Amino acid sequence: MKSSAFILVLAVALVPFVIPAERKCQLSGLWRNEQDSLMEISALRDNGDFQGKYLTRVTLTGGCARTSPLKGAQQQPGEGGWPTFAFTVRWDKFSNATTTFAGQCFVDSGGKETLSTMWLLREAVGSLEEDWKATRVGRNVFTRKRTPRGKNLLSSFPSCEDTSSPAP
Ligand code: BTN
Repeated sequence: MKSSAFILVLAVALVPFVIPAERKCQLSGLWRNEQDSLMEISALRDNGDFQGKYLTRVTLTGGCARTSPLKGAQQQPGEGGWPTFAFTVRWDKFSNATTTFAGQCFVDSGGKETLSTMWLLREAVGSLEEDWKATRVGRNVFTRKRTPRGKNLLSSFPSCEDTSSPAP
């Protein structure tokens, strides 16, 4: 009797080492990148489509950003693999540029999720002669940002227009 109780206790104690942490990658939720930009992705549809909001911390002009809509799609992950995805942000009102991101979700052995992405930022130019300088390329790495229950992107990180004091 005593030995079976000991085996039970031992088995319970070993569970975390035997069963790995959740390795699945969920795109939905709030994410922050190394530039301190935030994005909030809503629940994915059955076909992998998703929508969300993006609040960039940096802008081409250095001016105020506004929360902007994003739309994307996640590839169906293969067995045990992590999904690739792409999304587009249509910068809303403060800019006529567009950015597309393509990336993949990874989960480390501790369960930490990372979105590794590359982006193309296209700004509008006035003529075809200026086309050569209209597209920038870069990389962003996003990690999940936890927010207190009931809080959303806007309440956790207001855009600079929301926080700036009114003109005199
Ligand atoms: C603009 O300034 O005209 C639009 C905003 C561009 C923000 C870029 S998109 C790629 C990079 N990652 C970010 O989070 N922000 C910048």
